[in-house]
This record gives sequence, structure tokens and C-alpha cells, in this order.
Amino acid sequence: MRRFRILPFLFASLLVPASLSLAASPPAPATVEPAIGAVVGTDAGAAVATAASAPVTARHAMVVTAQHLATDAGVEILRAGGNAVDAAVAVGYALAVVQPCCGNIGGGGFMTIHLANGKNLFLNFRERAPFAAAADMYLKDNGKVNRHSNLRSFKAVGVPGTVMGLNTALERFGTMSRAAVMQPAIRLAEEGYVIRPGDARIFAAVADRLKRHPVAWKLFSIDGHTPRAGERLRQPQLAETLKLIAREGSKVFYEGPIAKAIVKASEAKGGIFTMKDFERYTVEWLKPITCTYRGYTIVSAPPPSSGGVTLCEMLNILSGWTKYPGYGFHSVLAVHDMVEAMRFAYADRNTKLGDPNFVDNPIDKLLSARHAAAIRARIPADRAVPSSEVHGGQVAPEGRHTTHYSIVDAAGNAVAVTYTLNSWFGTGIAAPGTGFVLNNEMDDFTSKPGVPNQYGLVQGKENAIAPGKRPLSSMTPTIVLRDGKPFMLTGSPGGSTIITTVLQTIVNVIDRGMNVREAVDAPRIHQQWLPDVVYLEPDALTPETRAALEEMGYRFRTRHGWGAAEAIVVRPDGVLAGASDRRRSAGSAAGY
Ligand code: DON
Repeated sequence: MRRFRILPFLFASLLVPASLSLAASPPAPATVEPAIGAVVGTDAGAAVATAASAPVTARHAMVVTAQHLATDAGVEILRAGGNAVDAAVAVGYALAVVQPCCGNIGGGGFMTIHLANGKNLFLNFRERAPFAAAADMYLKDNGKVNRHSNLRSFKAVGVPGTVMGLNTALERFGTMSRAAVMQPAIRLAEEGYVIRPGDARIFAAVADRLKRHPVAWKLFSIDGHTPRAGERLRQPQLAETLKLIAREGSKVFYEGPIAKAIVKASEAKGGIFTMKDFERYTVEWLKPITCTYRGYTIVSAPPPSSGGVTLCEMLNILSGWTKYPGYGFHSVLAVHDMVEAMRFAYADRNTKLGDPNFVDNPIDKLLSARHAAAIRARIPADRAVPSSEVHGGQVAPEGRHTTHYSIVDAAGNAVAVTYTLNSWFGTGIAAPGTGFVLNNEMDDFTSKPGVPNQYGLVQGKENAIAPGKRPLSSMTPTIVLRDGKPFMLTGSPGGSTIITTVLQTIVNVIDRGMNVREAVDAPRIHQQWLPDVVYLEPDALTPETRAALEEMGYRFRTRHGWGAAEAIVVRPDGVLAGASDRRRSAGSAAGY
């Protein structure tokens, strides 16, 4: 058995040097120290403390993102005296350049903030439906959903929120000028950046789609092919757009030439955007979802994200099982408890939540101790609960086209951001002259009740399309506090799997004593009520564990690794430990 366990470590160590050497080199001399967490023996053969499972550490401040140059941009701002919000804005713009599949100015997202003064805040910069949108806008005459229309056309685009979101956060809590925090992004767009294998794989995966849109293809191709490892990708148009935003602010995006270019291109291609959609776009400060888990406070995303509510519902269910932390990682009992918590919370997720400006979300009920206790009472100790015995709507796992990043500064401010174009490169459509692609977030709405969206999400009327409404999201930028101070930051891409990825990363640290590297590396499981199956990453369970769970009624399906948790843990001695998910290998953790 032992011999077989070596393989994952060999594999992991092969992947390590790039991100670690980068993290350890100036200007961000974070160090790699041996893991301090308990050595976690796993049935599954992952997450044992080895050199490969040591997090990157730093004394003062840390940035973890899915693209190493964006991480460096954040560290550059922190070193220059910026706070975590300054760095978050710098990283947001930098990822739009160096991770254009997912980082964006043509999409939207969420920012969870914990300020050193104890305040917790949440900024909603999710896209909004255009005013001409209608509940049945994607239905064909035969009643079927027009998949091209709601995924790949101008009609699939929601009004982007990223620019106003980043600028609003900076204006309220930043200390540096827009020009200063945008400088790294502008430089990366202008001078170009060298593609790594992890970057190249993403471009190659969407080559066919990008080729269909000549404007976008020109932005993301070099000599007729997608950028390859070692090549330099320059984005002069995007650099001009970013300079314009740096100089003139959000106005230029929502009222000026950028909005005009998008509306014009939309009109030419049968879209429904008007200038009013952009002029009336707003972001909003919302109260984050909070709950407690074994003495820690969880601060996470409220509707229009389902993330915080679903995460807290799962944690509430688990917290009533006092024996749970004593079960071995991915042991039969641990998997049983976690999968059932997932099943019941996802069944609630799908039919009860939507944009709070349009529907009532029964958050108090879903997060009550009573609700969690009622769910636990329905879960027998020795068998799986068939999903047919649970109410709710259907969801299916998604890819990993979004991006998350986590930042802690020297003063103790913490920022977690998840933002997205939805699919990789969104619609793949760029308005001429703008240099960036537009999202296809409209597919996150219910195009037709009962009919799955691109990820198999079958949702209810709460998430129906309406003019100016925001589609329900699963993005879960989360900050965990201990004694009112940042203890852990995490988040992930992966659509409906985002929430269970965040759950497991947190539980791996709190209940299993893993260090942050181990917690991010550990193989994941996922259950979402329907289909009635448990998804497994390769090696997530030993054959014996799997067989025992099958006896209890579980059915499993192995899928390639999903999610990309970019996480930080603050150790009791104040040292920051970070881990960028190796499932998305261009990322890094760095600090000083
Ligand atoms: O907001 C959401 O939940 C989705 N648009 C996120 C999409 C995502 O994570 C892409 N990867 N699957």
C-alpha cells in the first residue's frame, strides 16, 4: 500500500518548483517552510506532510492567485505601501490581462472584505440583465432553449460589473490612486507576458471557439495559433482601454466610448444592449452571510450568490455532529456525513434563492439551527439518503472557468475575490477596439424552468430572467475569522462545485488539522442532490472505503480534478501560509 502512496507525491513534487521558486525569488521573498500542521495520514494517499506539501509563508502580507504575474502585481502594490484593497484592485485588473479566460473587465463578481477594524463587508459587482431581457428570451418557437443565443451570442452577455466593482472598492477603502494600482496591468498588457504551460493549455482548449470570432482571435493568437509556452502575448488594445479607465474612471466604461463600442457591436449582431443598460448599472454593498463553525466565524457571499448560504447550511449540519472531526480524512463515516450535508444543502440551494432585489430569500430559515437539526434527523448513520427523498432542484458539476484570489495585508485587512466571465472567455465575443471579451453570464439564469443550463443546472422561477436582474451565482469568496481576526481566506472556480470546494478546504484545516497546502491539495468529493451520484477526484477514496460506501447505497463517478482554491491561513504566530491550487498550475502564492 505504502508504495502506491508515493505516486501522488512524486507527481506533486514535479509541479512544485515553478511556483515555489517564483514565490521565493525577489521582489517577493516569501519562504517555503516545513508544514506545521499535523501530519495527516490519509486513506486516499494525498495530503501527507512532505516537502511538496509545505505552504509558502510570509511574515507580513500575502497574495494567492491563479496566475503568478497577477500574484506579483498584488505583492508589488503591498510592498509599495498599498493595503489589501489596493492590492485586490491591482490583481483584479492584472488577471484581466494575464488570465484572460477568467480574469476580466468584461464580466463580474464578488468581493468579501474584512477590515482590520473588525468590519466585514461584501461588494456585489455581478452582471445585470439588459433592460430588454425577458424570461422567455432564449426560447425557440418549438419551446426549446436556444443554446447559441444564451451562450455564444451578444444576447448572452450581462452588463459587466468588474470595472465599477474594482473602482468602487478602491474609492471606498483603497489608499492609492487608480493609476498606481492599474499600472502593473497596463504594463503587462503593453509589454506582454510570457506564457507558461498552464496558460497555454487554457488557450489551446478554446482555440476553436475563439477562431469563430475574428476580433477575439486577433487578441489571443500569435501567428495564427493560440499562445504557446515561452511565447510573449502582447495586448495593446487592452492596454489602451486600461489606460482610459485609469485616467477617467468607471464613467468611460459605462457612459463613454467603451459602452458605446459594446452597444454598437451588439446592435450590429442582433444583441439587445442600449446605452441605458450601462448608464444605469450599479454595484452594491451587501451584508455578508455569516455563521459559526466550531468556534470560527465564516464570512461569505450573500445572494445573488448561493455560495454563503449553501456553505453555512452545510457547516451547520456538520457542526451538530460532534464526532465528525475525529473521523479520518475520507474515511467511511466522514464521507457519509459530508456527502449528506452536501445533498440536503444543495437541494435547498436550487429552488429557494435568487437576486434579493427581485425575490425573497429565506436565509434565516435555511441557516437556522432548527433547520440543520431537522436535516440531521433525516440522515441515518448507516446508509445513503436517496436523493429522491429530498426536495429541491437539480444541479450538475461545472468546469473551472472562473478565478479566485485571496489577499492579507500587514495591517490585518483581508480581501477575497471571485469573479468570472462564466465560460472560459465568456461568449468569446469582443467589441472591436476594446481588447477584451464579454461574459455569457445570462446562462446562469433559468432560461426555462426544468431545463438545464450549460452546466446542467436546473433552476426555478426565483432565478428567472428579468430586466436589470442579476443571475444566481455559486461564487463563494470566503473569509474565516478566529477571535474576530482573519484565520483563513479561500474561494474557487467551478460553478456548482465551488461551494463544496470551499467547504472541504475549510474543513480540512479546521477539523483535520491540515496545513493550507495539504488542505488545497487534498482530493475532493462533490454531491449536489441530483444526479444522485457522488463525484470523486482520482484517488479520493481507497477501494476499501469506496466498497463500504457502496454497500451503504452510494454511487460514485470519478472526474478529473476540479476547482482551484487559492487560500491563505494565518498561523497562531501571525505567519501567513498560502497555497495556490496546483490543479491550475500557472498560479502562485507570494508575500513578504
Ligand atoms: O457565477 C457562477 O456561479 C458561475 N458563473 C461561475 C462559473 C464558473 O465557476 C465557471 N467554471 N465552471
